[in-house]
Parts: sequence; C-alpha cells; structure tokens
Amino acid sequence: KIIILDFGSQTTQLIGRRIRELNTYCEIIPYNKFPFDDKSVKGVILSGSPFSVNDATAFKPDISQIRGKYPVLGICYGAQYMAYTSGGKVEKSDSREYGRAHLTKIKSGVALFDGISEGTQVWMSHGDSITVVPENFEIVASTADVPAAAYKIKGEETWAVQFHPEVYHTTDGTRLLSNFLNICHSKRGWSPASFIDSTVDQLKGMLGDDKVILALSGGVDSSVTAVLLNKAIGKNLTCVFVDHGLLRKNEFENVLRDYEHLGLNVIGIDAKQRFYKELAGVTDPEQKRKIIGKGFIDVFDEEAHKLKDIKWLGQGTIYPDIIESLSITGHVIKSHHNVGGLPEKMNLKLVEPLRLLFKDEVRRVGLELGMKENLIKRHPFPGPGLGIRILGDITPEKVEVVQNADDIFIRMLREQGFYDKVWQAGAILLPIKSVGVMGDERTYENTVALRAVTSTDAMTADWAHLPYEFLAKVSNEIINKVKGVNRVVYDISSKPPATIEWE
Ligand code: XMP
Repeated sequence: KIIILDFGSQTTQLIGRRIRELNTYCEIIPYNKFPFDDKSVKGVILSGSPFSVNDATAFKPDISQIRGKYPVLGICYGAQYMAYTSGGKVEKSDSREYGRAHLTKIKSGVALFDGISEGTQVWMSHGDSITVVPENFEIVASTADVPAAAYKIKGEETWAVQFHPEVYHTTDGTRLLSNFLNICHSKRGWSPASFIDSTVDQLKGMLGDDKVILALSGGVDSSVTAVLLNKAIGKNLTCVFVDHGLLRKNEFENVLRDYEHLGLNVIGIDAKQRFYKELAGVTDPEQKRKIIGKGFIDVFDEEAHKLKDIKWLGQGTIYPDIIESLSITGHVIKSHHNVGGLPEKMNLKLVEPLRLLFKDEVRRVGLELGMKENLIKRHPFPGPGLGIRILGDITPEKVEVVQNADDIFIRMLREQGFYDKVWQAGAILLPIKSVGVMGDERTYENTVALRAVTSTDAMTADWAHLPYEFLAKVSNEIINKVKGVNRVVYDISSKPPATIEWE
C-alpha cells in the first residue's frame, strides 16, 4: 500500500483516487499519524497544504524516519517541506505561479519522468518557491519561473515536484504518479474484482453465522453494501427500506422492486403519515433535519426489535466520510443526516464493507457485482429527501407538487441525455406565490426552482449550464402539468458560496 500523508490540501483526496485508478491500494492519513508498524507500506506521498512552511502554525511532523526508508514523493508543500527541513530556503518570491506552466530541462533518464517529454504542461498553485536548494538535492526539472520544479535527493528514493500531478491540467500527471508507483515496486493488484473477492472472504470470516441488519436508502452506497453483504452471508442479511414520504415520485415502489430482483431480503416500511405528522408546521431547516433523522432511527429501531438475534448493523459508509479531517476551517455548515446515531442507540457492532472506497470505486464494484446501471449511476439524494427541498413547512400536498415537478425535470434530463452529465438535479418548492395568467384567468400560485449542478465530490459545484431551449421545455412542461405551479426559475449559484441544497 501507499500512504498519502495529508497536510490539508484540497487535492489530497484526488491523489488517493489517482493512485487507486492505477490499481494500487492507498490510504490517506493525517500528517502526524504515519503507521510506522505497518509492514505493507511500499511508498509515501506528502500532500500539498494551505500553509506556507514558514507559518508558525504549519504542520511540521518529523519525517526523518520516513525519508530514506521508503520511496517518497513530495507534492507542492511536501516538496517545500523536505527542502526546508534539509537546510534549504523557501520564500515568497516574485516567481510564484498559479495555473499552467511548462516543464523544461527535464533530466534525461530519471525514473520519475520516464516517458514524459520536455514542454509538458503542469499545474502550479503556490505562493512560495524553493529559493535555496540543499546540497544533496538534484534538480530534475524546471519551469520558466521556478528553477526547482522537481528534484531528487541523492542516495535516497526521495522525489518531489512543485506542481500538482494529481490534477487534470497536469497532462502527464498520471504517468508521473505511475512512474512513482514503479519506483515503489507496486504490483498493481488492486481492482474492483479483487476487492470483491477479498471483502467477501473477510466478511464471511468476520460475520460467521451472525445476523446483520442494514438500512437501504435507494442510494448507491447502501445498495452496493447490501449486495456485497448478501453475497457473503445471504439470508442472514435483512434490509430495511423506509418510506418517510419524502422520496421522489414512485421511488419507493421502483427501488423496492429493484432490490427484490437483486435477491435481497428487504422489508419495505410505509411510514409516511408518521413523518408528515411529526413535521407538521415545522419550518426551521435544522429542526426538520433533526425530526427526519430521529424519526428514521425510531422506525428502524422498532423494526430491528421485531427481528431476533441481530448482532451487526451494516452501513454504507465510504472513504470520504471517514478520512480524518484536519479541520482547518472546522465549521459545520449543515448537519448531514445519514444514519448517524443508529449504532449507539442499538448496541450493535458495525460492519462497513465500503469504508475504504471512493465513490467512483463503489460504482465500479457495483457494476462488477452485476447491479443495473439505474441503481449505480443515480444522482446523490439527501437523506432528508424532499423535506429539505420544500422551503418552509411540509405538507403532503406540497410533497406531491415537488415530486411531480422533480419527476418531469429528471425524466427530461434523461431523455435529452443530460442526466449523466450533471452531478445531481432536482426541483425545490419555494414559499413564494406570484401572479400569473392562464387563458383569461389571473393565477396566484407557487414557484418552483430547478437546481442542477456539476461537481466531482459535492464539496464544490457549479450550476449546470443546461441549454436555454431545454430549460424552456422543462419550464413549460412543469407549468402545464403540475397543478399549483405558475412560475419556474433556474438556480445559477455555484458552491461556494451557495450550497447544492437550498436548506
Ligand atoms: P450541500 O447542500 O451541503 O450538499 O451542498 C452536498 C451534498 O450532500 C447532500 N446532502 C445530504 N446528504 N443527508 C445526506 O445524506 C443530508 O442531510 C444532506 N444534506 C445535503 C446534497 O444532496 C449534496 O449531494
């Protein structure tokens, strides 16, 4: 395995994904938690950081036991930190670079640049540069503004690059990372198929004849978790799928059918009325989330108590959920509800077979398990569902309006081939009425906002630049077909500063 030491860069997870795409297992670990006892470590990558090495608050772990012992690749801050701790100088300089640059003076025959030619484009993002290079450092590539764009430390397999090989704009970035994996003698044995085989074996060993309960949400993560567990323990897995009345139109019935086709042992629970009752009159977004979260736990808990001898709770936790955050900003923007709180309440042991996978790997594993694309490629959908897409209080009538508008939008996205191009999309019912005219009649009705975004991880997102003609058709269709709506608007805010959901 490769260890990626995280110094807090926004692109650390991207490094992890690239390494996995190169069929090599890796883990992202906080900068000061290197697993010295782990014998399977084959190489180490030091990430970038929002800090300068000269900041008093910068992360400065002792890496003397890492350098020389493993092949090391420092990226950006990682490169500067190794220079800084070896007697070099890192300074804010006139030659700082943001954006595209081109490599020159690539030293021929060096392993890290194998197959990479002079002039290749790289992506820079740094305010500091290495201005004095320590004596035993050998510069292996430069750019017009930065002499030390890449170096190797003599007598060690320690390499570093000032640019970001993990980002798309570094044309030969994948090649460079692959070269580093060769330096580490990676066997490249990591793949969805190998993951499934080894995970099913592990699950069998760990669970034996124990019974497991799992909450399905209709989303990719919980669905793949269920199929994997089912493959390992079959009927000892019981899945519970709760309809909280805030799902998409016909979602409950459709998904339940898909689950049954997959051979899963699923209990579907219609808890709509209970949720509507508890939510009646509540307008505060956080309050709504709390009620939905708690209601969900209660329903699930009741169901679990009807079953006998359950020992384990399955969860669809994935890697980005558990990578220990360095919490540089540390704000909770919204309290996300998945099934947090369940394990404490139920006194069950946790089994999370996807906890080390990235989202795209979960999808690949799902396809490899033979799951249909419509379960695998579906957009993310928040746990509180349409509850946070109805601004203000929730009523069954409003749910129906938003379900119908959403259904038209999503169906047309699919028909016109846009569904797979956007990260997620949906309709939001605004607490605004406005005047319109239909035929000879004056109307005074609701406004629906459409939201569609592009993103790679939901951390940042841009509004999807859907064609005007398409939006015009969706708007017409919604106003003509959905009773109670006379106006449709399109949300053109990016995240940040907006968020994907409206509440
Ligand atoms: P925001 O609105 O924070 O959303 O930009 C980022 C992503 O998270 C989803 N989301 C949630 N998912 N429980 C969930 O399981 C929640 O409470 C929740 N709130 C937002 C949102 O749909 C988007 O994909």
